[in-house]
Amino acid sequence: MATYNLALIGFGGVNRALAELVSRKNAALEKEVGLRLNIVAVSDLHYGSVVSPNGIDPRALTETRFSKGGFASLSGGRSDADNERVIKEAPADIVVEATFTDRVNGEPAITHCRWAIEAGRHVVTTNKGPVAFAARELKLLAAAHGVGLEYEGSVMSGTPVIRFAKRTLLGSGLNGFEGILNGTSNFILGKMEAGLTFDAALREAQELGLAEADPTADVEGHDVRLKVVILANELLGAEFSPRDVVCKGISHLTPAALSVAAGEGKRWKLIGSAKRDERGKIHASVEPRSIPLVHPLAGVNGATNAISFQTELLGSVTVTGPGAGRTETAYALISDIIAIHQANIGATKPCKEAA
Ligand SMILES: NC(=O)c1ccc[n+]([C@@H]2O[C@H](COP(=O)([O-])OP(=O)(O)OC[C@H]3O[C@@H](n4cnc5c(N)ncnc54)[C@H](OP(=O)(O)O)[C@@H]3O)[C@@H](O)[C@H]2O)c1
Repeated sequence: MATYNLALIGFGGVNRALAELVSRKNAALEKEVGLRLNIVAVSDLHYGSVVSPNGIDPRALTETRFSKGGFASLSGGRSDADNERVIKEAPADIVVEATFTDRVNGEPAITHCRWAIEAGRHVVTTNKGPVAFAARELKLLAAAHGVGLEYEGSVMSGTPVIRFAKRTLLGSGLNGFEGILNGTSNFILGKMEAGLTFDAALREAQELGLAEADPTADVEGHDVRLKVVILANELLGAEFSPRDVVCKGISHLTPAALSVAAGEGKRWKLIGSAKRDERGKIHASVEPRSIPLVHPLAGVNGATNAISFQTELLGSVTVTGPGAGRTETAYALISDIIAIHQANIGATKPCKEAA
C-alpha cells in the first residue's frame, strides 16, 4: 500500500473538497486502489500556510472556521501564504495546484507547477492556466524530472474526458471534437429558449450561484476557449495558445433568434470545437451554433457539459456529465493521483510503503 503526501496550493472550494474526500474516502481508496492520502502542507493567499510533516488532520482543516491568516493557529502554521517554501520544502510527493485560473498568462500557477516539478514532486491541477499556456513546457520538464503531471479537472471537472480520449479512444482515429464546455452559458441559453431575455437569464444564473458577479469569462466564451486549447493541443497535437482560437460568446443572442431556431427544429448552443482537416491542419473555434435537434449535443440541458469526439472508426462518441462543482472537481484530482499511482507502480521513483 502506498501513501502519498500532498501539498495543497490554494484552499478554496476545490482543495477544501479534496481535504473532505481525504477524510471520507481514504479507507475506500486503500481498499480499491491500494493508496492512502496524507495532507502535509497547505498554502493559501487568504488563510496562510501550514506544514506538518506527520500530516494535518483533514477534518481539522475542513471543519474549523479559519479567519484570514487563520492557519497560524495550527501547529506548523503561519498567517501568510508561502507557496515557494511549501512547494519546495514540504515533504510532499504530490503538489495539488488549485489556485485561481489566470486567463491572460496562466501565472502564478505555471510557476507553482515549475517549482514543484523541479523539486521532484508530481503535480496534479484543476487550473486551466498552466495547461492552456504551458502544457508543452511543463510536460517536458516533468519528463526530465521523472514525475507525473495530470490535469483531468481542467476540462469538465471530474467527468472523464482527457484520459478517456487519450487512452480509451486510442487507435480510433480521433480527428475532432465539439463540446458544450460551460454550464453557465448552457443554463442561460436554456432559460432564453423558455422566453427570458439574456439579462434576465443571467440574473437567474447569478441568483443560483451558477454565474459569477462578473460573468464575462463564461458568457463571452473565454473559459471555453482555454478548454478548447487544452483539448486541441492534448488530443489533436495542435500547438495553440488561447489567442489563436476565434472566440464568440452568447451575449448578443436574442430570444427571437432562439425561437426562429426552434421553428426550424434547431437549438442554439455555445460550442467549443476543433477539427483536423484532410491536409492535417487543425481549426478551432468557440461560437454559438444553431444545431439540429438530432445532434448529440442538442439535448444537453441546464448546467451539464458534454463533448462529442469525432472518430474514424466509431463515428461520434459523446461523454456527458458535470463540468463544475467542488466535489466533482476534487474527484478529478483523485483520479489524477490514481493515474500517477498506477504509472508509478513498479517505477523507480519511490513512494512511501506502509506496513
Ligand atoms: N470550482 C469548480 O467547479 C472548478 C472546476 C474546474 C476547474 N476549476 C479550477 O480549479 C481552481 C480552483 O478552483 P476553486 O473553485 O477552488 O477556486 P476558489 O474557490 O476561488 O479558490 C482558490 C483559492 O486559491 C487562493 N489563491 C489564489 N491565488 C493564490 C496564490 N497565488 N497562492 C495561494 N493561494 C491562492 C484563493 O485565495 P483568495 O480567495 O484570497 O484569492 C482561494 O482561497 C481554479 O483554477 C478553477 O478555475 C474549478
